[in-house]
Amino acid sequence: MAKIRKVVLPVAGLGTRMLPATRVLPKEMLPVVDKPIVQYAVEEAMASGIEEIILVSGRGKSLIEDHFDRAVELFETLARRGRRAELQRLLAQTPEPGAIVATRQQEPKGLGHAVWCARHLVGREPFAVVLVDDLIDAPVPCLAQMIAVHERTGGNVVAVVEVPRDHTARYGIVAPGADDGRVVEIRGLVEKPAPDAAPSRLAVIGRYILLPEVMDELARHEIGAGGEIQLTDAMARLIGRQPFHGLRFEGRRFDCGDRLGYLEAIVALAAKRPDIGPAFREILARYS
Ligand code: UTP
Repeated sequence: MAKIRKVVLPVAGLGTRMLPATRVLPKEMLPVVDKPIVQYAVEEAMASGIEEIILVSGRGKSLIEDHFDRAVELFETLARRGRRAELQRLLAQTPEPGAIVATRQQEPKGLGHAVWCARHLVGREPFAVVLVDDLIDAPVPCLAQMIAVHERTGGNVVAVVEVPRDHTARYGIVAPGADDGRVVEIRGLVEKPAPDAAPSRLAVIGRYILLPEVMDELARHEIGAGGEIQLTDAMARLIGRQPFHGLRFEGRRFDCGDRLGYLEAIVALAAKRPDIGPAFREILARYS
């Protein structure tokens, strides 16, 4: 079975839910504790054995590419000042030269369109998609958990979480088949159904392992929910033709594209940090 070597990170969205912070700054560059959101996704991919990171960016997003450069002046200054541990940490977080590439979506026509924009860079091999906004704190990186399932089941694998019934209209929702409590067979997918039309409460979140045929479906440029080209619609057309599974991964997901999800991520990750956690929890106690 072909190894999952490439991940697509679509970062061309406008981030309107985080205005005014995102008037100029890409939402992917907002810090969670002391790292930009996008860096969590890149580290997860690198720790999952991914060799090539494909950013699909848009106007005003070039800061994201700059962030993963070797900041020569900064690195030299840290070395001169003997701050070796910090320097080593920064180097370990930086992809190797050539391991990160970028293309442009040109117009924000939807997530499906953003993924399709990476078709030439992906080629005809299975690949991963990570939505940076969905920050996942997990004992084993979520993408690595999914790759392990893919190696067993083959085909497409998406990360799923149980959501309250009144939240189904925010997600792609799974029509489930065989379910062992961890891995669930996917028989159908519906984008943003109203609660009474939702086939379950199992929502697809921002981690996907996809076979290359999804690019052929995306090439039809069919407009779906919200007037956007939806990745869910293209995936749904492959169900029945290819294996399709959802993984209830081990870990906690924070929706950093939303104000409350973003704040929760900061609180959760800061509170568990060995260096600042104890002092931060004392500060938090003053506000509860
Ligand atoms: P969102 O639904 O979060 O949309 O996109 P958004 O535009 O980024 O943010 P809001 O809703 O206006 O606040 C989900 C993911 O798909 C990417 C986004 O960057 C995000 O990672 N996306 C979305 C694109 O790359 N291009 C698009 O045209 C739409």
